[in-house]
Amino acid sequence: MSAPSKTFYIETFGCQMNAHDSEKVIGTLEHEGYTRVEDEEAAGLILYNTCSIRDKAEQKVFHRLNEYKRMQGEGKQFAVLGCVAQQEGNKIFERAPYVSLVSGSASYRNLPAMLDRLEQGETRITGLDDHRTQDETFDTEFTTRSNPHRGYITIIEGCDKFCSYCVVPYTRGKERSRASDSIMTEAQRMAAQGYTDIQLLGQNVNSYRDPLGKQTFAQVLRSIGQLSGVRRVRFTTSHPRDFTPDIVQVIDELPTVCDHVHLPVQSGSSAVLKAMQREYTREWYLERIAWIKSAKRDISMTTDIIVGFPGETEDDFEQTMTMLDEVGYDAVYAFQYSQRPNTPAVGMPDTVPDEVKSARLQRLMDAQRERQRLSYERHLGQVMDVMVEGYNRQRGQVTGRSSQNKTVNFTTAQPILPALGSYLNVRVTRTFPNSLVGEAVQAG
Ligand code: SAH
Ligand code: SF4
Ligand code: F3S
Repeated sequence: MSAPSKTFYIETFGCQMNAHDSEKVIGTLEHEGYTRVEDEEAAGLILYNTCSIRDKAEQKVFHRLNEYKRMQGEGKQFAVLGCVAQQEGNKIFERAPYVSLVSGSASYRNLPAMLDRLEQGETRITGLDDHRTQDETFDTEFTTRSNPHRGYITIIEGCDKFCSYCVVPYTRGKERSRASDSIMTEAQRMAAQGYTDIQLLGQNVNSYRDPLGKQTFAQVLRSIGQLSGVRRVRFTTSHPRDFTPDIVQVIDELPTVCDHVHLPVQSGSSAVLKAMQREYTREWYLERIAWIKSAKRDISMTTDIIVGFPGETEDDFEQTMTMLDEVGYDAVYAFQYSQRPNTPAVGMPDTVPDEVKSARLQRLMDAQRERQRLSYERHLGQVMDVMVEGYNRQRGQVTGRSSQNKTVNFTTAQPILPALGSYLNVRVTRTFPNSLVGEAVQAG
């Protein structure tokens, strides 16, 4: 077999944790002497960072792997990373024998050693978590960030919550938090490099427990929000179980901590929540929402919802529908329940027919769109701080993002377009269910 050239191509699916893991993998590969290419045909090593949260996501992986097949025999090597890698393990070699490396995210810190073995010509290399020994986090010494203004920091990895429908505790291993000193070092370095928008990541970011015992999650938000140069601190995803009032306090106190909380509810029915093993009730969740609503700032709330969980009755679903009114979400990410291998819910009869699931999903999304159309109107006439993200030359608009994470398309009176990553004050002149339109009033 011809020796692999040290070039690689990487494709990423799934959540922000995966997107950021890929940035770390890219940094690690580059440190090992590899060069990234944007064309898979030109790459010696093709990596695929995968997601298995729903069946469709997993099917996509195997579909792509089949496409790899046509590139076999060109001296290329293939690696499957991420959640499908961890979930399927050695079975991937059976389904796709041309794959040489299979690694879950909890083993990425061993990547340099795995790459060495790959270079030696080994073809069955695995980095799989056994859910017992992995208590370290992936060192972020080498990270190649894709955006020079906004950057992620993973503060907690894995998940110990074991909701009955979810693969994450099996694909990402045990929950482990990073030491606050290490987080602060990375945040300071990013601020010095010019990053103004820092997003803290974790499957349950607010379940953070500092191994050094120095800082709570809210204190980490405050410490980063106070760093010179940092204009925005975001955090996602928050879990209702670990949501505490001091998070709301720090948002109120520090304008740099973004006025947005993503708090997945999954269902509005306490009976379904129980079957999901979410370990909270509708009332418990609404109490946290009341804390957020009692803030001085208008904190934007968004959520995730699963429809058609086994046993979900029409009445259960109606209770989810009423959450839309009671909370007033600014965005809802809703999914049809998808049965996942090895999860406790597999044992529950999948009682909701597919057509009922899709009809419920449609009803939910239609209702939410109408609510968003009304709720976004509250921004009409407001002047908001917008970070420039791109340009829509056809429409002659600049695209940006508000502190609440809303898309703002705007025009400026200046002949020269504002730079990417700069902040401007924009007056909102029109609203839509998913975006705002406005005009720049002055430099931010
Ligand atoms: N840790 C976060 C969510 C992580 S997964 C939390 O607990 O809230 C992202 C979203 O995918 C979940 O919020 C859920 O809505 C959805 N999801 C997870 N497993 C699913 C499944 N088996 N079927 C459908 N949606 C699922
Ligand atoms: Fe999955 Fe539940 Fe963990 Fe979220 S808290 S990642 S839904 S097991
Ligand atoms: Fe998917 Fe794994 Fe993220 S399953 S959603 S890539 S944690």
